[in-house]
Amino acid sequence: MNTMRALVFDRFGEPSDVLKLREVPVPRPGPGQVRVRMIASPINPSDLLLIRGVYGRPAGPPAVPGFEGVGVVEESGGGFLAWRVLGKRVAVLNGQGGNWQEQVVIPARQAIPVPDDLPEEQVASFFVNPATALVIVTRVLRVPRGEWLLQTAANSSLGKMIIRLGHTLGFRTINVVRRPEAREELAELKPDKILVWQEGYDLAQLLRQHIPEGTVRYAVDAVGGPLGSQIISCLGPDGRLVVYGTLSDQPLLFSPRELMVNNRRVEGFWLAEWVKRQGPLTMLRLFRQIVRGLRQGVLTTKVAAQYPIERYHDALAHAETPGRSGKILLRFTRIP
Ligand SMILES: NC(=O)c1ccc[n+]([C@@H]2O[C@H](COP(=O)([O-])OP(=O)(O)OC[C@H]3O[C@@H](n4cnc5c(N)ncnc54)[C@H](OP(=O)(O)O)[C@@H]3O)[C@@H](O)[C@H]2O)c1
Repeated sequence: MNTMRALVFDRFGEPSDVLKLREVPVPRPGPGQVRVRMIASPINPSDLLLIRGVYGRPAGPPAVPGFEGVGVVEESGGGFLAWRVLGKRVAVLNGQGGNWQEQVVIPARQAIPVPDDLPEEQVASFFVNPATALVIVTRVLRVPRGEWLLQTAANSSLGKMIIRLGHTLGFRTINVVRRPEAREELAELKPDKILVWQEGYDLAQLLRQHIPEGTVRYAVDAVGGPLGSQIISCLGPDGRLVVYGTLSDQPLLFSPRELMVNNRRVEGFWLAEWVKRQGPLTMLRLFRQIVRGLRQGVLTTKVAAQYPIERYHDALAHAETPGRSGKILLRFTRIP
């Protein structure tokens, strides 16, 4: 077959308005590249931000979203790496986006062979969240055993990984969620503390009901806005806040005094930038750590539903529903 289906957007906008399912030519790999037949790809918050034109440094449309996924390498464009992965099931890392189509061409080094025992749905979310959780906790903040780490959006897929990493590595987590029902959802992970924060609440006051003032020295925030802004004043001496998401789409606002007091620091983390600065050995070590974390159940992603590519409208609506119980996957294999 010389054509395939792809989800394409011609202009930035609301994903359900601008994404279209198109029949397009099957791409051919050049030297050092491979063609991957996609099996599934998650709908991550970053994919939706890309389509809205507010993610990182967006390249102009027309474009196909999809930063990660699982597929099988069907064609090599030549070169040792491409030959090595030919025929293998791989995690498809696509920092430029482009995985929401039936076939994708990527540099062979971005097709990561994964052991057969890892389930397909886990390989679909192999990299973006597991790598971010691991890198922030163990390489950026290096949270020591026994310390408290405060996190927002704690019931996100990534937040759950951080809770489990806390159990494995010996740090304690304070988990902020926006809905009271999320308490029960998180309870099975046995997090140390869960706080429900809503507009108008005072985070510092909530926190004092659980632990003594000034004890939190590490925090990560994916929400921003009033919640993210209130974290700063909750940090104890030398406290560090890493911001890694913009879920509320609102800015952080705080007095410079909040940073000066206690020598607090705020820093940003973006996986795409971090990866650019790493050598192949570090990446290899990280991939191995992720495989281990998936096998141990620490870096796994719960899947709420899977939709065939032609039902992308339903998939998008589900992905944007507050309180959904896990990731939404798009599936690309044609249903006979
Ligand atoms: N910087 C990086 O390199 C990097 C890498 C990976 C992920 N991220 C970011 O990490 C975050 C989590 O990603 P994910 O894939 O784990 O998410 P996810 O599983 O899709 O879950 C999204 C979570 O965000 C919560 N949420 C949505 N809007 C919110 C708001 N306005 N205020 C508070 N909570 C809100 C939802 O809560 P409900 O359950 O209440 O709906 C849900 O728990 C995202 O912001 C993503 O962009 C960043």
